[in-house]
Amino acid sequence: MRVATERLVLREFVEDDWRTVYAIESQPEVVRYQTNDVYDEAAAREYVQGILVSAREVPRLVFDFAITLDGVMIGRTGMKRGDDPRMASLWFEVMPELQGKGYATEAARALLGYAFEEVKLHRVYGDCDPRNPSSARVMEKVGMRREAHLVQNVFIKGEWCDSLMFAMLASEWRR
Ligand SMILES: CC(C)(COP(=O)(O)OP(=O)(O)OC[C@H]1O[C@@H](n2cnc3c(N)ncnc32)[C@H](O)[C@@H]1OP(=O)(O)O)[C@@H](O)C(=O)NCCC(=O)NCCS
Repeated sequence: MRVATERLVLREFVEDDWRTVYAIESQPEVVRYQTNDVYDEAAAREYVQGILVSAREVPRLVFDFAITLDGVMIGRTGMKRGDDPRMASLWFEVMPELQGKGYATEAARALLGYAFEEVKLHRVYGDCDPRNPSSARVMEKVGMRREAHLVQNVFIKGEWCDSLMFAMLASEWRR
C-alpha cells in the first residue's frame, strides 16, 4: 500500500522504522491515553517486527502504515479488522514536534479512503479518551460521527477511563 496526499505519503513499514517508532513512543505524552506504556528500543523493534508479520497475513487483519513527510517518517496510522472483517477500528499518532499542522487529519482521511475504497469496509470506528481532545478533533474533522460517550469502560494505567466513540460508514464516506 502506498497512498499520497497533498503533503504526505502513507506507506508500509520497513524494518528500520523501529527507530522512529522508538523516538515517538518513548515519549510519555504520546502514550498517555493508549493501552501500551512507553517503548524502550527492544519494544519498538518488537512492535515493528509484529507489524511486518501481520502485513503478510492473508486475509490481512491489521494495517499499520508509516506517515511520511518528504520521505521521513513522522507518525503512523492504521486499522484493525474485528471479528466481522467488514469493520475496523482506526488509530493515528504524530510526533509531538509536528503536531497541530493537520498531519493526523490528512493521514486519517487517506486511511479512511483506503479502508472504504480499496478494502471495501462497511464501517470504521475509533475511540479516544475525552481528556485527549486533539484525537477527538481529528475524528470529527475527517467526518466521523460521534456515537457515544462510554463511562469507565476501559482500565488504562491504573484507572478506569471513559471513551468517546466515533464511526463512519461506507455510505457516509461516499457522500
Ligand atoms: C492525536 C494526534 C494524532 C493529533 O495529531 P495532529 O497532527 O496534531 O492533528 P491535527 O493537526 O490534524 O488536528 C489536531 C486538532 O486538535 C486540536 N487540538 C489540539 N489540542 C487541543 C486541545 N487541547 N483542545 C482542543 N483541541 C485541540 C487542534 O487545534 C486541531 O484542530 P483544528 O484543526 O480544528 O484547530 C496527536 O496529538 C498524537 O499523536 N497524540 C498522541 C497519540 C494519540 O493520542 N493518538 C490518538 C489515539 S488513536
